[in-house]
Amino acid sequence: ALTEDTIIIVLGASGDLAKKKTYPALFGLYRQGLLPKGVKIVGYARTKMDDAEYHKRITSYLKNIDSDEDKAALEEFKKLSSYVAGGYEDDASFQNLNKSLEAIESTYESGVAHRLFYLALPPSVFIPVAHHLKVNNYSRRGINRIIVEKPFGKDLQSCRELLGALKENWTEDETFRIDHYLGKEMVKNILVLRFANVAMGAAWDKNSISNVQITFKEPFGTEGRGGYFDEFGIIRDILQNHLLQVLSVLTMERPVSFSAEDIRDEKVKVLRAIPPIEASETLLGQYVAANGKPGYLDDDTVPHNSVCPTFAATTLWIHNPRWEGVPFILKAGKALNEAKVEVRIQFKDVTQGIFKDISRNELVLRIQPSEAVYLKLNAKTPGLKTRALPTEMDLTYKRRFADSKIPEAYEALILDALKGDHSNFVRDDELDVAWKIFTPILHWIEGKNGPAPKPVGYPYGSRGPKELDAFVEKYGYKRSDAA
Ligand code: BG6
Repeated sequence: ALTEDTIIIVLGASGDLAKKKTYPALFGLYRQGLLPKGVKIVGYARTKMDDAEYHKRITSYLKNIDSDEDKAALEEFKKLSSYVAGGYEDDASFQNLNKSLEAIESTYESGVAHRLFYLALPPSVFIPVAHHLKVNNYSRRGINRIIVEKPFGKDLQSCRELLGALKENWTEDETFRIDHYLGKEMVKNILVLRFANVAMGAAWDKNSISNVQITFKEPFGTEGRGGYFDEFGIIRDILQNHLLQVLSVLTMERPVSFSAEDIRDEKVKVLRAIPPIEASETLLGQYVAANGKPGYLDDDTVPHNSVCPTFAATTLWIHNPRWEGVPFILKAGKALNEAKVEVRIQFKDVTQGIFKDISRNELVLRIQPSEAVYLKLNAKTPGLKTRALPTEMDLTYKRRFADSKIPEAYEALILDALKGDHSNFVRDDELDVAWKIFTPILHWIEGKNGPAPKPVGYPYGSRGPKELDAFVEKYGYKRSDAA
């Protein structure tokens, strides 16, 4: 584990990811005293600026610095943060970066600095940067690690090419591929819920479960990110990575241990039992102007005739003895009516006879906002009559764990990378099998095998395409009356 004398180098320090996620997480960890002793943070990007300007930027990235303690911590955080400007494609720039790293290293008593490289960069420069870092900035004496983020290619072939190129310089052990959903508290909770509870484990299969929905909803559109989004679409942005990761932890077999390899072996095994998605089992949508908000095609950064889906619902099947016949519906959309990510497991009908029209049990894991686990069940209506009343057992974190701070996903993951724990990072073979599931449908959507399908329109701020209710009902989902 990197517990001391570590330099964290953030490449792409002036970009969107660094601003929204990397720096807030680094400061959050620092504030809690969780970064290595003697840590230094070096920002690197093309923009020319001095340390003072860089410190101003960092400050602007951080929210809610109100208390005196926060303000004092921010001043210290600035002192350990410095900046180097340089390009992404030439050795000279990286040699210049290395001079700064060596200067920091010489201030450590041990004379050795470990290096954690965080690539908060656009995919077009992943490969040259990973290469230049290895050639110019790799510590021969300390430990080196590299963090990378999606997109990991656009389909199976491009992913293999990207991975292959990165592997020329960085071993699997040194590489930490982020899917930030794996850092979310409720996603991490799934393994505990499943494997630390007999009551859950016993009902976790095709005998008890009718259908499962994994849903991602965002209340805003592409707003300014249209250029990136139009090239990728909602399936690559959310389903192929975030929702598929949630699916794999929900459905994997019990790992032999909590070690990274045991966990990831089981994830890969279950993903390999999923055949490629069918076009006939997929519903695509694109938002149109409504409620005073612009449509997707009104975004200037989007081609005016784009058929890129901003909403997708699709059904996956797992061909193994536990899950045969259970539909797993993944759905995700931008510009919807609310912000919500949840897993909804709907159980089968109770044997009919003594009760009529009784609601099904549902177990809901609300990943965000407001983490919760709740189980919809039927209880006797209090009183003299025997009638079943749909109600809930509710574990809302804010109430039950009022005193606990829920860590940000990126805080948890950066800490894991410092510790060298790969459990919540994506292994190369996981990516390979994930792309196998999604590549055919993506090629179909892009018109590689015929005319590209046209997504159905849905109003900005709505629940999604009007066809959605019929879509989930087709897979056996029954709406219940419970609150
Ligand atoms: C990113 C996507 O990976 O996840 C974004 O590229 C999306 O489009 C984001 O908004 C959602 O993350 P979170 O943590 O806000 O649910």
